[in-house]
Amino acid sequence: MQLTALSVQHVRRICAAEIYPSKEVNLISGQNGSGKTSFLESIHYLATARSFRTTRTSDVISHGQNTLVVNGKLQGGAGQNYRVGIEKTRKTTRLKLNGEIVRVSSKIARLVPVLTFNTESHLMLNGGPANRRALLDRLLFHVEPRYLEVLKDYYRALKQRNTLLRTKASRTQVRLWDTQLAPMAAELDGWRGECISTINRYLEESEVADICGSLRLEYQRGWPPHQEYEELLATTFPRDREVRLTTTGPHRAELRIFVDDKLAKTIVSRGQGKLIIAAIICAQAQYLRDSGQEEPILLIDDLSSELDRTGRNLAAKMLLSTKAQTFFTAIDALDLPAEVRASAALFHVEHGKMGPMAMVG
Ligand SMILES: Nc1ncnc2c1ncn2[C@@H]1O[C@H](COP(=O)(O)OP(=O)(O)OP(=O)(O)O)[C@@H](O)[C@H]1O
Ligand SMILES: [Mg+2]
Repeated sequence: MQLTALSVQHVRRICAAEIYPSKEVNLISGQNGSGKTSFLESIHYLATARSFRTTRTSDVISHGQNTLVVNGKLQGGAGQNYRVGIEKTRKTTRLKLNGEIVRVSSKIARLVPVLTFNTESHLMLNGGPANRRALLDRLLFHVEPRYLEVLKDYYRALKQRNTLLRTKASRTQVRLWDTQLAPMAAELDGWRGECISTINRYLEESEVADICGSLRLEYQRGWPPHQEYEELLATTFPRDREVRLTTTGPHRAELRIFVDDKLAKTIVSRGQGKLIIAAIICAQAQYLRDSGQEEPILLIDDLSSELDRTGRNLAAKMLLSTKAQTFFTAIDALDLPAEVRASAALFHVEHGKMGPMAMVG
């Protein structure tokens, strides 16, 4: 999917701006606080109805305003055109697709996969398992049509089971939910395991190995291998009742990231961590493409900080090789490798106002 036009109103310090991005590479430059990340955030709003920085819309709507508005034109891989829009007040969200009101954000999100690299991305390495489960959930939401429905049903049943555990319900009452959870757990596990095997095949070929060592993801499904989930729930029932929670299952799945068979978070430097995350983003882009999905849009915020010249070159090369439409930001366009600058449409932001930029050098 490619964004061919974007208009933004009242997002942070952007009062009103309109750009016509390149379908390939875009580079947004500007001083600290000029609004570069806010532009990426606006694209993220358009695609997912959410910010990647905050869950509070009031943080994002420009001070003194009531509504943020982002509109865009998109073009799919087969040339289909879409008009997408979002209007958000502090309390309400209104989404539109081709002029029609859309009630669920997943309808637009499914159409527009986005992969984001920003200041939060280090959480993929250093944060809790939920950050990595989110990666799986996002990818499979796009690739497996029933994934979201099964995931939601699973969490709904899990909530019911946990409510019963808190009220010290009997084994018989709780077992009703075990029977519902088990097939959904098996289905989620099957999809997740397959997804990670595919991602690992792409990572095996990643050039990131030249700098960081060979990269591998290890999927743990949230309960022991070779054990039926329903049987396990029967054996863990006393403990679950004690702690008033379901202690095993897909909601406890984990993805561990290894370099040269060592746990990445315990050994990599911050710069190496950035490269590893870039490699994982590229593998996800490849996975989406090879699964026959729309190409993702890549939002790459401030790639160059913490990376030396070799690292910047490698990260840029990997990201460009995805051929996905990409939005890079940088304080100075010259911070990014010549390879990016050479192919990019250049935009400059000043005090929330954006214009095209003539590039020298
Ligand atoms: N709700 C808001 N209303 C108005 N201005 C805001 C609001 N929230 C943040 N800002 C301002 O908008 C700007 C945010 O810009 P943004 O984070 O997009 O900058 P940036 O160009 O990415 O900067 P950096 O290079 O430091 O990452 C800041 O100057 C901030 O003070
Ligand atoms: Mg920024």
